[in-house]
Amino acid sequence: MRGYFITFEGPDGAGKTTQIDLLSKYLLDKGLNVVVTREPGGTPISEAIRGIILDTNHSEMDPVTEMYLYAASRAQHVSQLIAPALRQGKIVLCDRFVDSSIAYQGAGRGLGMKMVEEINSAALQGVMPDITLFFDIDPEKGLTRGRNRDRRADRLELEGIGFHRDVYEAFCRLCHMYPERFRRINADGDIMEIHRQIINLIEQLPKYGK
Ligand code: TYD
Repeated sequence: MRGYFITFEGPDGAGKTTQIDLLSKYLLDKGLNVVVTREPGGTPISEAIRGIILDTNHSEMDPVTEMYLYAASRAQHVSQLIAPALRQGKIVLCDRFVDSSIAYQGAGRGLGMKMVEEINSAALQGVMPDITLFFDIDPEKGLTRGRNRDRRADRLELEGIGFHRDVYEAFCRLCHMYPERFRRINADGDIMEIHRQIINLIEQLPKYGK
């Protein structure tokens, strides 16, 4: 039996984390087996790599180093947590995945979307999301929301609006490239209204509905 793999993508401050919490409660209430995780992170090794990547003291980090660190963190996450959970038939909800690397490192850092996709293929070990929810919000709005949170901005959030616009446009391109996998969520609105959009969408998924 294979479970179901749902990833959540979008600009910084799009409200993914709140919605993942709400969706996981909804699915748990239905008696389903749910695992919530995030990238970069999700396992002790991947969380340690997260610390290195997001540290604001690491302003000298080369974009290629950054790309490999995200991919390294992902390889560990897939092999230690995601793939085993899917083999056990669980529903895995993951806050960001390979599409973030394609958008942030490929477009934002200018390394090229194709190259980042290729570098990541070894890390994925054949595991791809069944469905990817793209939280569509103007990147400027997302950043403003993020800055209102009580934690300090990480190294990526400190990038200028031009970087975040490139990332946003790359996500839009991915939506067009993979229409069978991507679903757009209008993330600029009321929390419960966005939650309802997600539930409607999830309930329509053919495999999940069985
Ligand atoms: P995250 O903790 O999801 O931040 P937020 O809650 O603000 O969305 O992700 C941390 C940062 O890492 C975020 O700015 C996006 C970036 N990122 C990449 O650049 N590449 C990647 O592959 C991933 C997974 C995240």
